Amino acid sequence: MTDPQLVLTERVQQALANAFGAEHADADPLIRPSQFADFQANVAMSLAKRLRRSPREVAEAIKAELSDFPGTVEVSGPGFLNITLADSWIESQAAGMRDDQRLGVGTSTPAQTIVIDYSAPNAAKEMHVGHLRTTIVGDSLARLHEHLGNKVIRQNHLGDWGTPFGMLIEHLLDIGEPAAVAQLEAGMGTEFYQAARAKFDADEGFKQRARVRVTTLQSGDPATMRLWHVFMDATVRYFNKVYSLLGVTLTDADLAGESMYNPMLEKTCADLESSGVAVHSEGALCLFPPGFTGSDDKPLPLIIRKSDGGYGYASTDMAAIRYRVHDLKADRILYVVGADQALHFRMVFASAQMAGWLPDTVSAEHVQIGMMLGKDGRRFKTRSGESIKLMDLLQEGVDRASAAIAERGYDEATRNEIALAVGMGAVKYADLSVSHDSEYVFDYDRMLGFTGNTGPYMQYATARIRSIFRKADMEPAAATSSILLAEPAERALALHLLGFGTLIEEVTARSEPHRLCNFLFETSSLFSTFYEQCPVLRSDVEPETRASRLALCALTLRVLETGLDLLGVPVPDRM
Ligand code: ARG
Repeated sequence: MTDPQLVLTERVQQALANAFGAEHADADPLIRPSQFADFQANVAMSLAKRLRRSPREVAEAIKAELSDFPGTVEVSGPGFLNITLADSWIESQAAGMRDDQRLGVGTSTPAQTIVIDYSAPNAAKEMHVGHLRTTIVGDSLARLHEHLGNKVIRQNHLGDWGTPFGMLIEHLLDIGEPAAVAQLEAGMGTEFYQAARAKFDADEGFKQRARVRVTTLQSGDPATMRLWHVFMDATVRYFNKVYSLLGVTLTDADLAGESMYNPMLEKTCADLESSGVAVHSEGALCLFPPGFTGSDDKPLPLIIRKSDGGYGYASTDMAAIRYRVHDLKADRILYVVGADQALHFRMVFASAQMAGWLPDTVSAEHVQIGMMLGKDGRRFKTRSGESIKLMDLLQEGVDRASAAIAERGYDEATRNEIALAVGMGAVKYADLSVSHDSEYVFDYDRMLGFTGNTGPYMQYATARIRSIFRKADMEPAAATSSILLAEPAERALALHLLGFGTLIEEVTARSEPHRLCNFLFETSSLFSTFYEQCPVLRSDVEPETRASRLALCALTLRVLETGLDLLGVPVPDRM
């Protein structure tokens, strides 16, 4: 264990047990970073009441039990314990971290099965910018869980079914398969949809054909299913282009669209009905999970079969949750989906509990994704009001990155490679660095900035450390000397790095990649200060100090690179 906060928690708990009895061994010692020391423990204040003693007295008693502590403990104010760690302790912990392949990051024992529902664009419309964020955040969560040794099952819940497919297939027949495929593969799903819609609204004959087509599709007619596959395959090829540009880990094996649940819907409804959980209401089959009421105070229904017999979004989600718990054996299910669907998921989870399909041992969580806004503070659109083609959006990021590094004298291939990493890194980091449930403004200028909490800045920080090693003519991996902490900036950096393992575990447990961004940003800020104040390669630096500083550089680099990899942000060698 390298994380000082955890070590302290354990030590103070031991002290509590020794001083006041074993029943206090589990009390939270309330260790927090402090202005006056490395940490402070606030537990004496809360414990004093229970023990009917003064907080200072309690604090003194704890301090007495910490006499062999590697550092200094002082009682201050009304009863705070100020704790400063010994440099030698930090040095040896940093050495331990340097020698640990996992950098102090633990593994889940036992490993859990984590189902992550993410990306999930709709095939009947173009993959839009909102799905960019569900894709990027979900992918980072998948990487984090895998890093902790959990089994991750990715589920790309594509919107690939529903009544619009009647008119989409008819339109496909009208324009011919090759033209349709070309259009869909090029990411013109929205245009395709709009053209179909326009005919549907204007042309009674087309409308009629579309309606009939919905029925033949739903009946599983082979010729219609083939056309549906033609449409879907072309659409998925476009999604895959976007995924590959982004460096997202989703593959075709992770496709689990709404259509996959079709064969289960009838039984889903029948089972819910026969167990008495679902009831008929105004012709529809509904679930009324407790605690949900509409504006009129009437119980709110989750409709699982419409009065015309059709199934919808909620039917599919009920089938999906049962499948994920029962067949996939999930311990946790993460739904990385827009925040505007919060009510839907609360009702689905409550309904599944009511049906006994979601036992207490399984946690279903909606990782709410905030809306992406344009610079005008409204939902992100182009100037003319259309939705923006994702591929174009990403390409613009790459082009701008390329322009930003134009003057640096790279050959074309290198420049393209760096521009791709910087452009995608910028877009991804911007998505991840804001808490996932808050809205944020999509702004190239800000996300491509080379200063501040941005992707390019983080990439630059790693490139800068790599360039130190190039100048030193050595591999970072060879920098394995003892880490000696003489200067405050060295000490601050090392102490911060020790928190990496716990941070990764917390970020994963709480699905909060933005906290990893904050940690990495702070890492690079502390590194900058260190690098300003502590020369590494200057000729007047003692060999021992130089070796120690190189070891600290190497450790920082590994933390940054591991962290960025867990975010899915690419790291170019140089910039
Ligand atoms: N396709 C949906 C949308 O774009 C998201 C699906 C999320 N997953 C789910 N199980 N409902 O809003």
